[in-house]
Amino acid sequence: MEKKEQLYEGKAKKVFVTEDPEKLIVSYKDDATAFNGLKKGTISGKGAINNRMSNFLMGMLEKHGVPTHFVEELNDRETVVKKVSIVPLEVIIRNISAGSFAKRYGVEEGIAFEEPTIEFSYKNDDLGDPLMNSYHALALKLATKEEIETIKAMAFRVNEVLKAYFLNLGIELVDFKLEFGRLSDGTIVLADEISPDTCRLWDAKTHEKLDKDRFRRDMGGVEEAYQEVMRRLMGE
Ligand code: TMP
Ligand code: ASP
Repeated sequence: MEKKEQLYEGKAKKVFVTEDPEKLIVSYKDDATAFNGLKKGTISGKGAINNRMSNFLMGMLEKHGVPTHFVEELNDRETVVKKVSIVPLEVIIRNISAGSFAKRYGVEEGIAFEEPTIEFSYKNDDLGDPLMNSYHALALKLATKEEIETIKAMAFRVNEVLKAYFLNLGIELVDFKLEFGRLSDGTIVLADEISPDTCRLWDAKTHEKLDKDRFRRDMGGVEEAYQEVMRRLMGE
């Protein structure tokens, strides 16, 4: 399958149409942004790592019964995905306090929850992706009641599968962001990516950060952290 014209360029990926109206090709970039694009940089090798890692994890999730947009990895940076219309919600699952949760509620990072939490943000850069609950999403007709129930159940299932898998690799899955899309027949599938850009991953022993927080917080060792996750996940 080959790329035709570019449909869209996002902060971390480009999206191309193909000869198949139901399929797109995504191309992962090394560009990194944070704080709604305010902070810009490059994480060398990130595109290839995120592409391969996301495909690997989505393939695994498919085996555990979670439908995804993943079709076929073309090369280091490019993947064929099913065309979806993205539900404009960022779905965030948390197992351990960190990031905006810790800030919002005035708690330290690193408190393990008895049960995972779920929250939604309205995917809207102009508004800075404001936090919303499912009633707000319904009021704004971002998704139907049934879709929201499906999305919640799928997000918690993704958490169960990934949390256990990462723990085996000595990594704590602190929190992560998912996006979902509708296929042309309306089926909800997991879309976007699962990578150190979209997850907080901490070494289970040392609690060292192995994710994009190293870039967001200018901690250094960003490339090495992404490579370390890749090494544990895929043995390289
Ligand atoms: P937060 O603590 O900043 O709300 O982030 C929660 C999780 O969502 C974290 O794993 C990083 C991820 N995330 C994204 O993937 N994209 C974003 O734009 C933001 C703000 C967070
Ligand atoms: N990628 C997001 C942005 O630039 C934010 C983040 O991941 O922190 O807005």
